[in-house]
Amino acid sequence: MCQFQAREMSVEEIHQLVEDFGTAARRAKDAGYDGIELHCAHGYLLAEFLSPAVNRRVDQYGGCFDNRVRIVDEILAAMRAQVGTDFPIQVRLSSMDFVTGGRTEAETYELCRHFEEIGFDALHISNGMYASHPKDQIIAPMFTDHALNMERAAQVKSLVNIPVILANRINDPKMADTLLKMGKADFIGMARGSLADPYLPAKAKEGRFDAIRYCIGCLQGCEMPLFMDDQAGCLVNPRCGREFENDLAKATTSKRVMVIGGGPAGLIAAETLALRGHKPEVFEAQKHLGGQFRSAAFPVGKGELSTFVSSLRKSLEELEVPVHLGVEVDEAAIASFAPDSVIVATGAKPLVPPVPGIDGANVVTAEDVLLGEVEIKDAPIVVCGGGEVGCETAEYIAEVLLPHVPITVLEMQDDILMDMMPFTKVCLIEMMVQNGVAWKTGATVRPLRQTVWCTRMPKASTSCLPRRS
Ligand SMILES: Cc1cc2nc3c(=O)[nH]c(=O)nc-3n(C[C@H](O)[C@H](O)[C@H](O)COP(=O)(O)O)c2cc1C
Repeated sequence: MCQFQAREMSVEEIHQLVEDFGTAARRAKDAGYDGIELHCAHGYLLAEFLSPAVNRRVDQYGGCFDNRVRIVDEILAAMRAQVGTDFPIQVRLSSMDFVTGGRTEAETYELCRHFEEIGFDALHISNGMYASHPKDQIIAPMFTDHALNMERAAQVKSLVNIPVILANRINDPKMADTLLKMGKADFIGMARGSLADPYLPAKAKEGRFDAIRYCIGCLQGCEMPLFMDDQAGCLVNPRCGREFENDLAKATTSKRVMVIGGGPAGLIAAETLALRGHKPEVFEAQKHLGGQFRSAAFPVGKGELSTFVSSLRKSLEELEVPVHLGVEVDEAAIASFAPDSVIVATGAKPLVPPVPGIDGANVVTAEDVLLGEVEIKDAPIVVCGGGEVGCETAEYIAEVLLPHVPITVLEMQDDILMDMMPFTKVCLIEMMVQNGVAWKTGATVRPLRQTVWCTRMPKASTSCLPRRS
């Protein structure tokens, strides 16, 4: 239970807050900032005043539109009094609250016109509140359409004569350019795109689009840590948040490094080595790069994961790092290469539990299923392991490979998807339900009448899919 109890602010507190915003604006200007954005989005304090879903006041700060927006009117006036009219102040607002009883779309347009009238210099159109459905979230996940706000932003743009900034799940500069050409907004904001690749603007300017490390919308590295009181990072950019310790300083001695394994870890290691002036070479036993990131891109909604591997491949090409595919490294290979250092990045192998019958023809791995290397024809299907791999694979089978077949995920723990970011988990569970995937928790798999079963598979690896032979 939350340890804090929300309460209504007194009018005196509101007046103090208004004054404080004014003095904060003064400090920001004095500190040398070029402008200010007033945050009226995402369910934070001012968004709560604006939202009929939260604001139940019956005084001059609650009820009708004019009352709910009054605090923003007063804050802007207080800020203007401190910084003048020639200092840019823009406002950020969610295009809709996306909660029952929240601000409606029509009221958003009324609000945007009002914000222009009272003197904001630009409108930054974002999305949702923390309480919104994950697909309408502030930081929309991979299961959401790109630029989910674009139509509402375009409507706003048609109503006002100040710049409109559009944000949320726009991760590609060409898409951003297209949206601008379509007149959906005047500027595009990119948050996660910049975490994934801080050089995105420079690469776009140079036309190196295939070298951009695109945000994949996973939320695993950026938003997930925020819920755990940790610092934000990025799944596709391991340097994110660690730029000082991993500053890519040139090495004093350039070493010949053998990188064994062409999965994400090996490729990032090789890229980092090359950027630091070493001479790495990548050796991959398979005929292709990417390791388990390849199969991870097959479940529904996760196709963008393959941009990670393709951008790393391009980066290594630009850095002139030799990549040897289909080469199994053994002692002789290491001796003949004579490296100064070896990096072993061969990844994890699926845990195959010693259950009788595990070698049967009706048992396959999730990776093989996702990569299309085995064909599943028969049902019912049992997926052993209800982590992200097991559930995504079950959903993929139910939605893409064998619609409408009986399929059940078995999980030993008390819940499925314990390893998944809560917002993306809700999306995946909805997809599983829609496609008829059932699951049982607290379920231990045992051999039964010659049927083949297996227990849990390790995290981020494969799950077994027993199949009728
Ligand atoms: C790690 C992280 C922290 C964020 N913190 C804030 C914040 O403090 N205030 C805010 O208005 N938006 C915040 N956002 C939301 C972004 O500003 C942006 O609206 C959202 O991520 C959608 O845009 P994108 O698809 O370009 O990431 C944050 C996003 C991330 C990923």
